[in-house]
Amino acid sequence: MSQSSQHWIATAGQPLRGSVEIPGDKSVSHRSVMLAALADGVSTVDGFLEGEDTRATASIFSQLGVRIETPSPSRRIVHGVGVDGLQAPSAALDCGNAGTGMRLLAGLLAAQPFDSVLVGDASLSGRPMRRVTGPLEQMGARIGTDADGTPPLRIHGGQALAGIDFASPVASAQVKSAVLLAGLYAQGHTSVTEPHPTRDYTERMLSAFGVDIEFSPGYARLRGGQRLRATDIAVPADFSSAAFFLVAASIVPGSELRLRAVGLNPRRTGLLHALRLMGADICEENPSTHGGEPVADLVVRHAPLRGIQVPEALVPDMIDEFPALFVAAACAEGPTVVTGAAELRVKESDRLAAMATGLRTLGLQVDETPDGATIHPGQMHGGSIQTHHDHRISMAFVVAGQRASGQVQVNDVANVATSFPGFDRLARESGFGLEDLAG
Ligand code: S3P
Repeated sequence: MSQSSQHWIATAGQPLRGSVEIPGDKSVSHRSVMLAALADGVSTVDGFLEGEDTRATASIFSQLGVRIETPSPSRRIVHGVGVDGLQAPSAALDCGNAGTGMRLLAGLLAAQPFDSVLVGDASLSGRPMRRVTGPLEQMGARIGTDADGTPPLRIHGGQALAGIDFASPVASAQVKSAVLLAGLYAQGHTSVTEPHPTRDYTERMLSAFGVDIEFSPGYARLRGGQRLRATDIAVPADFSSAAFFLVAASIVPGSELRLRAVGLNPRRTGLLHALRLMGADICEENPSTHGGEPVADLVVRHAPLRGIQVPEALVPDMIDEFPALFVAAACAEGPTVVTGAAELRVKESDRLAAMATGLRTLGLQVDETPDGATIHPGQMHGGSIQTHHDHRISMAFVVAGQRASGQVQVNDVANVATSFPGFDRLARESGFGLEDLAG
């Protein structure tokens, strides 16, 4: 669980140079442990993200009776127990900061013969869960939430689930995945149709574990009662973590950074398109596939950016990258307009409000709307930033500090360890101005 007593001072540093190895993908890491635990046989996961979120998911499966070895950092050997082999936990299951952990587990645990309780940290405890409990209840699950639909989730096991055809009102991979995981245990078929395609890691990985699943962008369908066959998973580097370095090298004059073997699943790379529309200089080199996912080195050089209207169609493909995009926009020529992004209000923090407030603290004008913002660029000065328990707000303002005229104090940054342990070391090695606040 994150401590909230660590603060950073970010200041303009050197031009960013060198080659950076970004840690494993958070979405893929969560799912790798979940599906390996449900499989028959032993699976090895390589490139597992040693972040607090994904480690929380792994320890939950240990509490559910799954033996998981860590022979070396970023490697897990998961002794699958089969779809019917999980055991009742003896205590509440703590998902930490992880919406992905909690929402996917809700689907999985709703189908088990035992009761369970899912809890989270302050940020997760305020996030909406009806988007998953609603469809799961339609399938026959019984899940209690707090009155406003927030955690803890009290899951009453032993319910017989029936498959549904679920037209999701929200473009959310977490919702889709929760329904599909419950669907594995349901009578008949379960399908999910999305208003806009979202990341399809659950579908791809279920297929890699031998599940017969039909899927295409925005749609997935599977039959209940199938078993999973153990397989080895290679986790690609997380594009969402790479995003902070992409923006930083784009906005710091003289920079040239190579980000090695970054996962480029098309449902994740909206920021790449947006930055290129803004004039960024980013090349893909050494393309290959890693664990079935497209990867390439991203070579990014400083370039003058111009403000854009972010195409709404890109929003789901860059849903985690708006904090980084706001900083790029702050350093561009002309305003950047974001619309159709109301989902940002229910992430680890209200990211529209957190970014708008933080950039205003640094002297910029940001006009907030219910589903977006207009960022008016300018010279940022120093200031003290609240990060609202949100790792990506913390990292975004470290990047902002690289172009500020004064010191940017980024408060309560322990949350960065949820998704990007070692961010500060990699940032300093690349040339960022970044120090721990003494005391
Ligand atoms: C994720 C899906 C997205 C994303 C989150 C990870 C996943 O959330 O923001 O960081 O791994 O499925 P939503 O499903 O709420 O859009």
